Amino acid sequence: MAVHVSSHPLVAHKLALLRDKATAPKQFRELVRELSWLLGYEAMADLETRQITVETPLEEMPAAELEPRVGLIPVLRAGLGMVDAMLELMPTAQVWHIGLYRDERTLKPVEYYNKLPDAATVQVCLILDPMLATGGSSSATVDILKAWGAARIKQVSLIAAPEGIATLSAAHPEVEIHVAAVDRELNERGYIVPGLGDAGDRQFGTFAGPSSEPGHASDETAEVVRRLQRNLSANR
Ligand code: PRP
Ligand code: URA
Repeated sequence: MAVHVSSHPLVAHKLALLRDKATAPKQFRELVRELSWLLGYEAMADLETRQITVETPLEEMPAAELEPRVGLIPVLRAGLGMVDAMLELMPTAQVWHIGLYRDERTLKPVEYYNKLPDAATVQVCLILDPMLATGGSSSATVDILKAWGAARIKQVSLIAAPEGIATLSAAHPEVEIHVAAVDRELNERGYIVPGLGDAGDRQFGTFAGPSSEPGHASDETAEVVRRLQRNLSANR
């Protein structure tokens, strides 16, 4: 399992602002974008290059060009906010959206959008999703990408829970995970604590329900979280 937790001071600074409940959607979106830029830069550090020749105004010289075709896979909705920064870093990347939402009772991902063509058109896929909570959404996305034929897959998230990392790593040990922070745990509703609340709602200003706020979870939801936590401690 390869989990890369950024140690960059700018990441730590921006993450603190992002977590703050007083941060309004406009600034929240800006921070998601800035953090995505910094994490993307780190996540792409080992991409292969091939040698090319470039002609400066003075002479020819050997130079580098990115080798693999890269796909950005934003998981709707919350992953959308990470796309622009990644495209600034890599303007030639393809963007393939995957629509998943998490059933708030079972905490299982439900797929609702997938327009991938029959065969993979990229070699490296970067899954973009700010939150890696139970790991259900990311594991399902990796399943989809592997069935598509993606050769190499990385997960880029802002915050992960230990339970989600364990789930994703058990299902797909070769997937590298890049995050700004690994938080303490999931609460009984499956939200990351301390976390930042609901990343989709905070970006888009859609505070329709109390799902990410303190309060009682259903027995079914709490049992899903307890099972994940038992698995985590059994494998530690
Ligand atoms: C959030 C988040 C992830 C998922 C993480 O999305 O953006 O996709 O939950 O949870 P998991 O690791 O337990 O699967 P959500 O389902 O709230 O949809 P949204 O992005 O449309 O708000
Ligand atoms: N989705 C979020 O947006 N936040 C969490 O803490 C968990 C899932």
